[in-house]
Amino acid sequence: MTIGPELKEQVHKTLDAMRQGNALLVGARNGTLTHQQFLDYLNNLMYFFHHSCIHLDIAAGRARAVGQQEVVPFLEEKIREETDHARWPQSDLKKRGSRQEGVDLARVAPATHRILAYSVDLIERDPELHLAYMFFHEYITVIGGPELLADLEAHCGIPSEHVTAIGHHVELDKRHVAEDLMEIEAVVARSPHKARAYREVLDETARHADRFYTGMVSLFY
Ligand SMILES: [Fe+2]
Repeated sequence: MTIGPELKEQVHKTLDAMRQGNALLVGARNGTLTHQQFLDYLNNLMYFFHHSCIHLDIAAGRARAVGQQEVVPFLEEKIREETDHARWPQSDLKKRGSRQEGVDLARVAPATHRILAYSVDLIERDPELHLAYMFFHEYITVIGGPELLADLEAHCGIPSEHVTAIGHHVELDKRHVAEDLMEIEAVVARSPHKARAYREVLDETARHADRFYTGMVSLFY
């Protein structure tokens, strides 16, 4: 039994709901996203990307510590793949006229801190479950990214060349999603009881992600 199609379906449902009510997606589509909101979006993405490799490294260490050796090579390869992606939102910020160097900590949304705390807690609980957290972020970018880029360009006057933080990931993550799912299937083959946990983690991640995407453009959310 494969779990991949079901997990993909869960992300599609989340994206459908977010299209209706998420502040970032709705603001981009209605053309109401302000310049400052877009800068905040990039700033929060940069902070989030900085943590991808830190958390992957924690996950690899935790996996070794709890005897989940099988997943370690995947996490180590992922660290190599995700390194330095924070440079993309940084260059997008410059293209939008910001002189900011690095993350502006005063404009990191609480929802961003919460999703990152959730990520660390999840790794502590079971590093293999972290695969579903990664899969969620990568797959929602692949299926929702092109539409967001098109809306930003058509309704907010922000060209795709100024949103490389998303544009580059839309391409890269197509392959990453396939790799995530293969790894998840391998875990479920070893530990069938984790199929249920993966569904739950995907739901929890979806709830955090909805707030994260809103928080990025509505600080203090
Ligand atoms: Fe990726």
